[in-house]
Amino acid sequence: MPRFDVTLAGELNLDLILYGLPAELPAERELLARHMMLTLGSSAAIVAHNLAALGCRVGFISRIGDDPLGQVAIDRLAAGGVDVSKVRRVAGESKTGLTLILQRELERNIFTYPGTIFDLTLADLDFDYLTDSRHFHLSSFYLQRGLRPQVPELFRRLKAEGLTISLDTNDDPGGKWEGGLMDVLQYVDVFLPNAREARRITGIEDLEKAAARLAEMVPLLVIKLGEQGAMALRGRERFQSDAAKVDFVDPVGAGDSFDAGFLAQYLQGADLQTCLASGNLAGAFSTTMAGGTEAFRDRECREKFWRERGY
Ligand SMILES: Nc1ncnc2c1ncn2[C@@H]1O[C@H](COP(=O)(O)OP(=O)(O)OP(=O)(O)O)[C@@H](O)[C@H]1O
Ligand SMILES: [Mg+2]
Repeated sequence: MPRFDVTLAGELNLDLILYGLPAELPAERELLARHMMLTLGSSAAIVAHNLAALGCRVGFISRIGDDPLGQVAIDRLAAGGVDVSKVRRVAGESKTGLTLILQRELERNIFTYPGTIFDLTLADLDFDYLTDSRHFHLSSFYLQRGLRPQVPELFRRLKAEGLTISLDTNDDPGGKWEGGLMDVLQYVDVFLPNAREARRITGIEDLEKAAARLAEMVPLLVIKLGEQGAMALRGRERFQSDAAKVDFVDPVGAGDSFDAGFLAQYLQGADLQTCLASGNLAGAFSTTMAGGTEAFRDRECREKFWRERGY
């Protein structure tokens, strides 16, 4: 029996979110926010944290700077029940990454200082640790500049050890949507883009056509549709599941929380409709509090949310 249900290698950093900023952001003015939240951020860490909250045994490898924000991030992840023994704290020019989210009335601006996110490479990964698991998840393919060229090799080796693999590319800040993704998808069991990403990756504007193209490349394609919930394609079979209704605070980390909800059921061997419903529930739950993990930290609140929806 492997030690973990899921291992991940990826980014670990905080999100600083400012709420209630004016719609316009003129330069050289002091603009006041109504609320702020400093919370665990980064796609990989949010998936890891919320998988652990949902009962999975999770091991996490990352590289952070030797700085106070890195310490807060690692403490948060550990407090969530994730094994962080292989997170490397490296002193040097790169600091732990940081994302600043400016939440305006209808839109948000997102700024990321990548720092150590770009520094993680295959050399940082303890392969025996990663393979002491049933499943491996990779987030933020395009942000992983150091690791990205080595992902095909990493996935090939993980598959040879019998792990299943899931991938969520998230956005490409460079807007190119290349980086060898096609070489990587051949090893992926579950591919979890959102609708915009599915269109960009394929270069096909029609979502159904884009989905059909991607479904030829992976055994299971799951596309996140925001307020519309999610859809999945397994070969020519198509599944759809509506989003849960919630009192919405912010969408930060909803996609990552969806991944955690989906994978928690997938790894228990649940049917696809149940996996989708679980992903939607986790994504919706994440939007009820600030950031991607605040809702999941509160166990009572989490159990109540699931219970009220019949789970
Ligand atoms: N307003 C909402 N109400 C209910 N559920 C939501 C809402 N927004 C998102 N969700 C849930 O969260 C999931 C993921 O959201 P979304 O499609 O925005 O992912 P994403 O764009 O990958 O997010 P992220 O910015 O975290 O990467 C959706 O599939 C849905 O289940
Ligand atoms: Mg996403």
